[in-house]
Amino acid sequence: MLDKTKAPGEWTIGRQRILQTDCLTGLAELAAESVDVCVTSPPYNIGIAYRSYADRLPREQYLEWMAEVGLAIARVLKPEGSLFLNVGSTGNDPWIASDVADAMTRDLVLQNHIVWVKSLSIGEDTLGHFKPITSDRFLNNNHEAIYHFTKSGRVAIDRLAVGVPFKDKSNIARWGHARDRRCAGNVWFLPYQTVKSRAQKFDHPAGFPVELPERCIRLVGVADPLVLDPFLGAGTTLVAAERLGARGIGFEIDPDYAARATARLAATPTG
Ligand SMILES: C[S@@+](CC[C@H](N)C(=O)[O-])C[C@H]1O[C@@H](n2cnc3c(N)ncnc32)[C@H](O)[C@@H]1O
Repeated sequence: MLDKTKAPGEWTIGRQRILQTDCLTGLAELAAESVDVCVTSPPYNIGIAYRSYADRLPREQYLEWMAEVGLAIARVLKPEGSLFLNVGSTGNDPWIASDVADAMTRDLVLQNHIVWVKSLSIGEDTLGHFKPITSDRFLNNNHEAIYHFTKSGRVAIDRLAVGVPFKDKSNIARWGHARDRRCAGNVWFLPYQTVKSRAQKFDHPAGFPVELPERCIRLVGVADPLVLDPFLGAGTTLVAAERLGARGIGFEIDPDYAARATARLAATPTG
């Protein structure tokens, strides 16, 4: 249910708040230590054609900006809060994802490094979608990183909330497990849904599947969490928050993307 617009560029939809603003401005206005989980994917500085943001800064300037964003996120995270940072690399810039992660380590500790697999070939079979590249040097790029940061590196998480059943059921009794659930590990196969038009991708060139933020939010295992995405794009993180019945805040610099995220959320059933 879409509430009235509170101010130009600000919307409340269900339990979610969207602000069309620069993320550093938005972050500065949030209370310190107020956020349980931040799930976000910044621009990767690889020349993606966003509507208004130019995704090609000088490398040092880009990394300094990411470091500033990392500090601003650390300020608003609760002491036991988590940041899940999704970044991808390219053949031409294979270090960019890890350099962005490194830039975030001023006030944050890398606790888990998750590999997000978008497409996987097993034998002759292929699952999921990928963007093929034309190259005589580089393989098609079928994965991205999800870096899980906390303030201490020692924050307990609910591994079984996103766990899987044991393949070998005899392990349950042998290792004294209370139920048929084990940690799924740090490789997540999260394929994009098959789409036939740009509109089905919410007219955004770089969204992640809603299952990605959903998993991150469930993994922190906090009741009634406050979720944040400072680079909201098409609103996927807040769609996940709404589906899980969590509160969320998102910042997006582009007015059109912010408006589309709002419309998408208005059509999202509350969990
Ligand atoms: C990788 S996309 C995020 C996609 C999002 N995860 C989704 O699923 O739709 C990065 C977004 O950051 C936005 N952006 C770029 N600079 C920004 C800034 N300074 N503040 C807020 N948003 C910004 C871009 O317009 C773009 O929509």
